[in-house]
This record gives sequence, C-alpha cells and structure tokens, in this order.
Amino acid sequence: MRKIIEVKGLTKVFNDRLKAVDNVTFDVYEGEVFGFLGPNGAGKTTTIKMLTTLLKPTSGTATVCGFDIAKQANKVRASIGVVPQEYTADEDMTGYENIMFCASLYGIPKDVAKRRADELLQLVGLKDSANKKVMNYSGGMRRRLELACGLINHPRLLFLDEPTLGLDVQTRAAVWEYIRKLKNDYGMTLFMTTHYLEEADSICDRIAIIDHGKIIKVGTPQELKSSIGGDVIEVGVLEKEPDLSQMIMNISYVKEVKRLDGYYRIKSDSGEQAAPAIIDLIRSRGYHVTRISLSKPSLDQVYLEYTGRNLRDEQADSSDILAQRFTLRRARA
Ligand SMILES: Nc1ncnc2c1ncn2[C@@H]1O[C@H](COP(=O)(O)OP(=O)(O)OP(=O)(O)O)[C@@H](O)[C@H]1O
Ligand SMILES: [Mg+2]
Repeated sequence: MRKIIEVKGLTKVFNDRLKAVDNVTFDVYEGEVFGFLGPNGAGKTTTIKMLTTLLKPTSGTATVCGFDIAKQANKVRASIGVVPQEYTADEDMTGYENIMFCASLYGIPKDVAKRRADELLQLVGLKDSANKKVMNYSGGMRRRLELACGLINHPRLLFLDEPTLGLDVQTRAAVWEYIRKLKNDYGMTLFMTTHYLEEADSICDRIAIIDHGKIIKVGTPQELKSSIGGDVIEVGVLEKEPDLSQMIMNISYVKEVKRLDGYYRIKSDSGEQAAPAIIDLIRSRGYHVTRISLSKPSLDQVYLEYTGRNLRDEQADSSDILAQRFTLRRARA
C-alpha cells in the first residue's frame, strides 16, 4: 500500500510548556479513511493544522502527498482539501458564492469553478439552497457547504476535522454517506478526527487513538477490538461430561476456551464464523446445545482499556469546554 501521509516525531509545544502534540509517528495509506479518535484537547486539531501547513511544528517532520510540510507547503496545499472544525463560510454570501470564493483562493479559472460548484452542490444536496444566504442555513447545511468548499480543488486527500460535531443523527448519517462516497466513487483518501466512537467504528478503515498529544494505539477497528480479546461466545451444553474444550479449540477462529459450570466461554477473532461451527460440531457429536450468546467488544471498551478512562465521561478542562460550546453553538446556529 502506498503511503500518502508519513509523520515522524511530530511535536507541537504551545507557550514553551503545553505539549499539545507529543512526538507522534504514523502513516496514512492511499485510499483509506483514517480516523483520529480522542477526547477534547487531545491534540487532534493541532495535528491537522500542522499537516495542512497552517501551523509550524515545534519539531518532527511529515510528508503529505509526497511533499514536505515545512519545505513544500504550497505543493501540500494544492494537493489537499480541508474542512476545518470551525465554520469559515461568509454569512452574507450565498452557498454558491462561498464555493466560488474558495475556488478563487485556489486560482481555479471561473468557467471550471462554475462547473465544479454545480457538481459539488449536487453532491452535497445543496442545489436548491445554492442561492440562499448562508445566514439562513441550518447547521447541517453549513457542514455540507464546508465539505463542498473543501473539495473544490479536487484533492486526492481530504482532511475533515470533526465533520459531524453538533449535527443531529440524521444529518450525521448523511455526512457519513458523503464520506463513503468520496472514498468509494472518487478513490479519495480521508483523514478525519472525531470523538464519536460509533462513527469511527463504522466509517474508518484504521483508527489512531490519541490522548494527551500521544498516539496510544493504531489499527483497524477490528484489530483494536481483537487486541483487547475479541468476540466472546458463550455456549451452554446439557451434558456436563466430557470436557469438550479441546474439540472446540480446534475450530477455526477460536482463540481461547474456558470451561465453566454448564457452559463454555470462548474467545474468537470472528464470532459470526466460529459460533455456527461450534454448534454444528457439538450437535454432530450427539450433545445438546442449551443456549448460545455472542458479544462483541465495542470501541468504548477499547478506549477504556487503553486510556483507562471512558470517552463519554471525559472531563475536559474549562477552556476546552468553552471552546467546545462555542463550536457547538455555531454548529447549531
Ligand atoms: N493556539 C493555541 N495556543 C495555546 N494552546 C493551544 C492552541 N491551540 C490549541 N491549544 C491547546 O492544545 C491542546 C490540544 O488542542 P486541540 O485543539 O489540538 O485538541 P483537539 O483534540 O482538537 O480537541 P477538540 O476535541 O476539543 O477539538 C489543548 O489543550 C488546547 O487548549
Ligand atoms: Mg479539535
């Protein structure tokens, strides 16, 4: 797989004391949706700002689309799209005018820009509201407009900072759809930050868990879940003897079998595939299955395991809470 982002030891220290991003090293592969997951103040936006050349790293290096973020900033900017956490659209202009303005910043000729603006307004479902002023847009419409602006230069790589913050469930689902479409239909690579576990789980090919400026763990959602033990299958068997543990252990995808009172507790990399095979085998030997359950670990448990804290109960310090409220208020406005 080709690397589209390579980050080595990237660090950002604010005011000589706050290490917002602390020596992070990771790669993003071409064509994937890469998620940066972490609580408020973890350093997600600061990392994006450095990778998109808006902020100078204190130390460390990174290449984005093959260009060095420090030495070839203009080339980096020309190859990427950015949808920032804060809204940037001009309230007094229409959606269409905002997109045309973004195009002018990239030096895109007017006739090309017009065609792209039409396509993008169609893509994000804003065609009918294109000529309304942004001040009359809902939070969801604003997010979609930002998305369209981020795509105006047909980037190979799109950075999305909290693309669904403050949106209702339905609009969030719609944004997920656009993200999948960009990946599947346009082969785009997406780097997104989020603190919604469910979102990271459903759309990201790989996730980096970031906390206090450090990357704690990187992997596919499945790998992260497997790393804390995988799926758990419990199978009740009527016959207490003999011990079927070894027999079950030989089934594909079974990692661990524990014999408990009247049932077996089985750990598996793929519960869906192991469970039917387990039942078939037990029955084929003439024993009786009395009950079966399958539970899958969630990213919540993964997060808890690696950070020692629950993401939902996260206590942000007061400045983070204020920043968060401010963003939410704007998102809902
Ligand atoms: N310009 C700045 N000057 C000083 N400190 C900053 C600056 N920008 C960010 N910070 C601090 O750096 C830390 C990381 O902030 P950052 O915005 O990267 O977090 P985040 O993971 O994006 O959080 P959120 O989920 O709230 O968006 C925080 O403690 C924040 O207060
Ligand atoms: Mg942020």
